[in-house]
Amino acid sequence: MSDTDRDLDGALALSQAVRWPYRRDDWRVALDLGQGLLAEADGEIVASTFWWSYGDAFATCGIIIVSPAMQGRGLGRALMDTMLEATSDRTLLLNSTAEGHRLYKSFGFSDIGTVHQHQAQMPAARAPFPTGPVRRAQASDLPAIAKMDAHAFFGAERTRLIETFARIGTAAVIERNGVIDGFALCRPFGFGHAVGPVVAATAADARLLIGHFIAEKAGQFLRVDITGDSGLGDWLTTQGLPEVGNVTTMIRGQRPPIVGPGRIYALASQSFG
Ligand SMILES: CC(C)(COP(=O)(O)OP(=O)(O)OC[C@H]1O[C@@H](n2cnc3c(N)ncnc32)[C@H](O)[C@@H]1OP(=O)(O)O)[C@@H](O)C(=O)NCCC(=O)NCCS
Repeated sequence: MSDTDRDLDGALALSQAVRWPYRRDDWRVALDLGQGLLAEADGEIVASTFWWSYGDAFATCGIIIVSPAMQGRGLGRALMDTMLEATSDRTLLLNSTAEGHRLYKSFGFSDIGTVHQHQAQMPAARAPFPTGPVRRAQASDLPAIAKMDAHAFFGAERTRLIETFARIGTAAVIERNGVIDGFALCRPFGFGHAVGPVVAATAADARLLIGHFIAEKAGQFLRVDITGDSGLGDWLTTQGLPEVGNVTTMIRGQRPPIVGPGRIYALASQSFG
């Protein structure tokens, strides 16, 4: 995929055909941060797959779509073959829909967790949210944010992703005694805004960070994709963000260690991980 109107328009039509909420800008961000492969038939884009490499040992992949009319003819399998060749020996992480699960399993991916999609149009007026030590991040916080993210996300250094999200959206941090204890980013995505990644040392801190954006985005559409072991599902529902779907996190290859002390409470996106 290249950054041309033809590819972007075709890709947008493809995601709309499977009812994914991607906007043209969301495709562009995915492309800016990684590599995409498209399949074309009769001048129409009919399939896509993307991957984002972090060094020689690890990559995530996603936006694996085959247009409904072309499904079940081996296109998904062919795209996976090409992507696995391109990512060579890297460990690959993805979040699978129910439709993709059998395909990924057959390529040696195994389940390691779940991700739960919470979203809603938020009410315009709400009681102020006590967010204590949360403050808006500044440019000078980004190196500490990227480091904490890498320690929580399999050692993958996602500095470009963090910088891009901070540029198109906003970042918040929890600072205590001059040390960044957690962070969250929030950017325009799909029907409104998406909060993530959210990295914190405790669920209480993750709630403070997400709460900061729930308050900031009052009256707007908000989405958060939380990890299954985050323990945040019921709380998000009481905040007006019910679960609308879930996917399975799968990995192929050796699972890299997570150093911490922070851990991922909400994903950058289901595709980015
Ligand atoms: C998942 C998807 C990419 C598969 O593409 P495809 O071209 O239809 O897949 P293939 O024809 O190459 O088939 C690959 C395997 O997936 C299985 N499969 C395909 N569609 C499936 C479905 N809807 N449900 C369950 N299994 C399915 C096939 O049976 C096949 O397995 P087999 O070879 O053991 O029979 C496609 O269904 C799709 O785009 N779905 C909507 C978007 C989506 O959910 N993408 C996955 C994001 S993680």
